[in-house]
Amino acid sequence: MTDTLLNVDRHLLITGGCGFIGSNFVRFIRAQRPAWRITNLDSLTEAGNLQNLADVAVGEHYRFIKGNICDRALVERLIDECTDIVHLAAETHVDRSIMDAGPFVQTNVVGTQTILDAALKVFKARSSGRLVFASTDEVYGSLPLDTMSERFTEDSPLRPNNPYSASKAAADMMVRAYHETFALDCVVTRCCNNFGPNQFPEKVIPLFVTNLLEGHSVPLYGDGKNVRDWIHVEDYCSALLAVLERGHSGATYNVGANNERSNLELTHELLRLLGCGPEMVRHVPDRLGHDLRYAIDAGKLECELGWQAERSAWPAALERTVKWYQDNESWWRAVKSGAYKDYYKRQYGLFEGESGE
Ligand SMILES: NC(=O)c1ccc[n+]([C@@H]2O[C@H](COP(=O)([O-])OP(=O)(O)OC[C@H]3O[C@@H](n4cnc5c(N)ncnc54)[C@H](O)[C@@H]3O)[C@@H](O)[C@H]2O)c1
Repeated sequence: MTDTLLNVDRHLLITGGCGFIGSNFVRFIRAQRPAWRITNLDSLTEAGNLQNLADVAVGEHYRFIKGNICDRALVERLIDECTDIVHLAAETHVDRSIMDAGPFVQTNVVGTQTILDAALKVFKARSSGRLVFASTDEVYGSLPLDTMSERFTEDSPLRPNNPYSASKAAADMMVRAYHETFALDCVVTRCCNNFGPNQFPEKVIPLFVTNLLEGHSVPLYGDGKNVRDWIHVEDYCSALLAVLERGHSGATYNVGANNERSNLELTHELLRLLGCGPEMVRHVPDRLGHDLRYAIDAGKLECELGWQAERSAWPAALERTVKWYQDNESWWRAVKSGAYKDYYKRQYGLFEGESGE
């Protein structure tokens, strides 16, 4: 990277900065580019948590705005005050999208279109500004389990199978369309499953770790053979920074860490790390439309931008993550109370009785 690029004084608008990836990205930017300013726009859904940023949300380089990405006037004003956008805000939990797709279309599709329209107006008027969009590997749909060598490339067809991934695919295509139609400076990332600190404990790793720490069983979908590709969130943050600074305008980059595990393998690894036996696994009916396998070819990002996953190797990265939840019990206990508890009781019957059964 050239010094010129490093020295650019940017003011990032980060949407969804109070969520899992967003809060890790704010922390990453504060450490890697301390001169940059950050505006964090977040509506604070259940997944958004100001505590995620308690250690870094200070000083004149950072400001938090509570607001919705569908609020056109607010979004336009904030984009006008910033140099670039890293758009992470989304409804993200597949199970919730199966219960009710409405909020997913509203935030993920309409919200992204709102940001695109506002960015088009502001960035075109001043002839500068880049939008980085966090799409997902789930837009590609599912790979079969019997051809483990096959992986998604950026040219793989989009075949989303659930309302969450369909809404992300729609947004992903809208970003592409604004680049093709209006030459808006956009870059798209399609990343695999992230893990790390501050992940909302409805996602599998923090859910399983915190259940086991509480002495509750863990609900494993179906036979557990579904395969996911896992990346540590700091590696994804470094990929977001790389595409912001050096990605080709209009390009899409897969982000992955060659870390494929079945859900059953993941579960056994977590049981081992927490000293628990197989009796703590509770098999529950499979998720509707459950994709079998995601696998990402990140060769384009590695070859074009020299990016490498450096923090994702198992078991060390998983051990560090488990330790973070062990060391931050007050964080997840607060998150697991209130509305979240009611939601999970309703959805999975968790937290009932001594063993969570
Ligand atoms: N977590 C993963 O494994 C993963 C993988 C690939 C891509 N992604 C994408 O990365 C992004 C971040 O994912 P995450 O796991 O951090 O999600 P998350 O659910 O932890 O956080 C989402 C954040 O967006 C905010 N938000 C939701 N709706 C909003 C709205 N209408 N206006 C303003 N803010 C709103 C929430 O309050 C929350 O802080 C998402 O776009 C997701 O699709 C996630």
